[in-house]
Amino acid sequence: MNGFRGLFVTGTDTGVGKTIVTGALVAALRAEKRNIGVWKPVQSGALLGSGETDAERLLQYTGIDERAEHVAPFTFQAPLTPMLAAKQDGVEITLQEIISAGQPLANRYESILIEGAGGVAVPLTEDSLVVDLISELRTPALIVARTGLGTINHTLLTVSYLQQHGIKVTGFILNDGESDEIYNDSSITTNAELIERYCGIPFLGRFPRLMDEMNTEMLIQVIREKIQLTPIRQALTVQSMEEE
Ligand SMILES: Nc1ncnc2c1ncn2[C@@H]1O[C@H](COP(=O)(O)OP(=O)(O)OP(=O)(O)O)[C@@H](O)[C@H]1O
Ligand SMILES: [Mg+2]
Repeated sequence: MNGFRGLFVTGTDTGVGKTIVTGALVAALRAEKRNIGVWKPVQSGALLGSGETDAERLLQYTGIDERAEHVAPFTFQAPLTPMLAAKQDGVEITLQEIISAGQPLANRYESILIEGAGGVAVPLTEDSLVVDLISELRTPALIVARTGLGTINHTLLTVSYLQQHGIKVTGFILNDGESDEIYNDSSITTNAELIERYCGIPFLGRFPRLMDEMNTEMLIQVIREKIQLTPIRQALTVQSMEEE
């Protein structure tokens, strides 16, 4: 039985801000005395110890006392989709191995936020995509998307794909990211509303561009001011469907 209680944070693309948003959400939920953990099932692009992997960043943002290799049991160096990055290291992983590796971590927390790799249709193993992992875990999903032009298309496609696979979508967060592009982008005033209108999934807030060094206190403050946590708290307390 896959006894996962949690929320899967996916994105419309790589680099949209899943790690920073996941870290900030977990920090804010833990500040409410909830024992929420974080899991990055597979990561690629850097090795543990570099300080640059998502697992290390998640631990830094949240202040969670875990070993990075427990947060991310599978790390591959090549900046490629996990399936190919693993192959370059001569490793072949299965979906069941990925899930089994996360179980001890999940058991230590009342609920976990799980950061995907890239977007929903990213190859994870020889025969599975990220969406298949979400399906197997039976958690709902939260989408992180860019704020600016193009986000309606990417977000609606992501919602539709998740729903086709029977995955419940809790909401979407638009992240300003680190580029200056949004400052001359008039679409940002209407994107959230249009996405809501065409798919009916709730907009949970806009995560601002952060200029200063990102520390836990500051990330908690940003979440409290900008993001609706109620639907996320609710999603985290629902047992995974298999446990019900
Ligand atoms: N709101 C923001 N303010 C400032 N910098 C940001 C913001 N959002 C993202 N960034 C920066 O943009 C880069 C990409 O963000 P992040 O790593 O969180 O994306 P991701 O979706 O997790 O990517 P991946 O697919 O590699 O996991 C990082 O360097 C991050 O620090
Ligand atoms: Mg990331």
